Amino acid sequence: MCGIIGYIGKKEALPILIEGLRRLEYRGYDSAGLVVFNQEINCIKVAGRISDLEKKIGAEKVEGTLGLAHTRWATHGAPNEINAHPHSDCSGRVWLVHNGIIENYRQLKDGLIKKGHKFASETDSEVIAHLVEEEEKSEKSFIEAVRRALLKISGTYGLLLIDKDEPGKIIAARLSSPLLLGIGKNEYYLASDAAALLPYTREVIYLDDGEMAIINNQDFRVLTLKKEESKKEVSLIDWEIEQVEKTGFSHFMLKEIFEQPEAIRNAIRGRLIKDEGLAKLGGLEQVKDKLKEVKRIIIISCGTSYYAGLLGEYMLEEYATIPVEVEYASEFRYRKPIIDKGTAVIVISQSGETADSLAALREAKMKGALTLGIVNVVGSSIARETEAGVYNHAGPEIGVASTKSFTSQLIILALLTLFLGRARQMSLVTGKRIAEEISALPEKIQFILDQTDKIKTIAKKYQDFKNFLYLGRKYNFPIALEGALKLKEISYLHAEGYAAGEMKHGPIALIDQNFATVLLAPQDSVYEKALSNLEEIKARGGQIVAVTTFGNQEIEKYTQDVIYIPKTLEMLTPVLSVVPLQLLAYYIAVLRGCDVDKPRNLAKSVTVE
Ligand code: G6P
Repeated sequence: MCGIIGYIGKKEALPILIEGLRRLEYRGYDSAGLVVFNQEINCIKVAGRISDLEKKIGAEKVEGTLGLAHTRWATHGAPNEINAHPHSDCSGRVWLVHNGIIENYRQLKDGLIKKGHKFASETDSEVIAHLVEEEEKSEKSFIEAVRRALLKISGTYGLLLIDKDEPGKIIAARLSSPLLLGIGKNEYYLASDAAALLPYTREVIYLDDGEMAIINNQDFRVLTLKKEESKKEVSLIDWEIEQVEKTGFSHFMLKEIFEQPEAIRNAIRGRLIKDEGLAKLGGLEQVKDKLKEVKRIIIISCGTSYYAGLLGEYMLEEYATIPVEVEYASEFRYRKPIIDKGTAVIVISQSGETADSLAALREAKMKGALTLGIVNVVGSSIARETEAGVYNHAGPEIGVASTKSFTSQLIILALLTLFLGRARQMSLVTGKRIAEEISALPEKIQFILDQTDKIKTIAKKYQDFKNFLYLGRKYNFPIALEGALKLKEISYLHAEGYAAGEMKHGPIALIDQNFATVLLAPQDSVYEKALSNLEEIKARGGQIVAVTTFGNQEIEKYTQDVIYIPKTLEMLTPVLSVVPLQLLAYYIAVLRGCDVDKPRNLAKSVTVE
């Protein structure tokens, strides 16, 4: 949600800011702006994309070696030029970019208006600039004024500020919204996301909640809001630059769908002992003993990660015989969940920054649960705040619609099932079988990717349908939900995911010749039931796309639009059956002219509630 970048050093700031914004655009893309400082402040903002900002700058000379920039996903105030960041105080002295939400902004704004402050925008963020201005009246130091202002704010922020009267300095502050300091040679970069820093440096410092960094082009200091010095460790980002570029694919989403075999290899690497039917999860070593005591697991997540959680429940209950519940983080955090010492809470999050998931994690921790994370972004808040966990190592995911991180999450859950199951009652034979099948998945996904042309043809046929029903049973029910989510989020078509057995309790009323059903019907333990669904849909003239196991010709009696997936263990079928649905959604959206990587109103990482 919103991307921010800052630069201070000896180079021209403008190209660095623009390049950074381009790499952060997936976090928000309804308006953008920047400020470059060179004795005078030069601020340029637009409603629209980064390309619109570049057009507006055109041939204008924007010189200076210090600057801040922002790409916005609107929360408070419409996505127009006035509400775009950077924002400033009344005098144009303090400038800032902000990611997050200031919850008490109304109250603060009313107080500031009474004191004579004039606000230009409807945003919550602008309040911070005026608060700092107010503090500067009694407190001469910019740093101290910022610190005092931050103490008055409640909410979340990743914040960069400059003061025209104290040139050569950026102040950065963080509370529940990611912020990294990239270290160069006599230059520093600040960003809400590692992807923006990759072209410049791999050495980073992750700011923690309640910390402020004061940066000039020689060095930096990190202080807590209580004025204590923080000692920070330098970490290395291990992503490659190609991973955050499209490398010949027309969209990041397509690239990431095609990266799935590799993402799965990375998730498995060094973690499977096939001969012993075991999974080795280094990140869980330190809590091994506590895990033995676990009587119940609650999985918490949002969006696509939630659907991965549902599959975790099926796998863990079947093979590790542990009771599992799955909850939307946004629900968990507000109801009264029962948690005791025997409860482990697993938070699944690609970004590791989703606000609801983070808040739910904190709630679970406070109630005494053992907290574990399945997270892709190394060093993210959820990764750091859980007691232990497993990284996906799927590489950066830029397309807003999640693809490779979903299949990677399923693999980690399968490894966890093996890890916990073998420590309980799972036999060596079953363990070996699961391990074998997991390691065969990358090639099996490749088999599906090789059928892309066929899926494209099916997409052409269905591109003008307005309504889609996705049906699946048992392990494929969560895939029906995920397939429908993929289609609706990127093509804006109405799509619903349903448990196939529930079709007769409502959705069947929708079926006619203009209604499309995508049915997941692999030859597993519930295949016969899927045939009944097919009969019922066909009898009502409905159009069907079926996903079934390779070699199953029987299904062609019902429809010609069949996509084949290789056979695998039932528990792992979802890793395969989701792939054609990702491709189907992708091609329908492309054919309808939608902006697949940046679907309207959505953002990759939802860092606000
Ligand atoms: C947003 C994204 C989804 C994602 C969800 C959870 O809604 O658009 O693709 O599944 O957040 O994100 P997380 O990073 O916690 O997995």
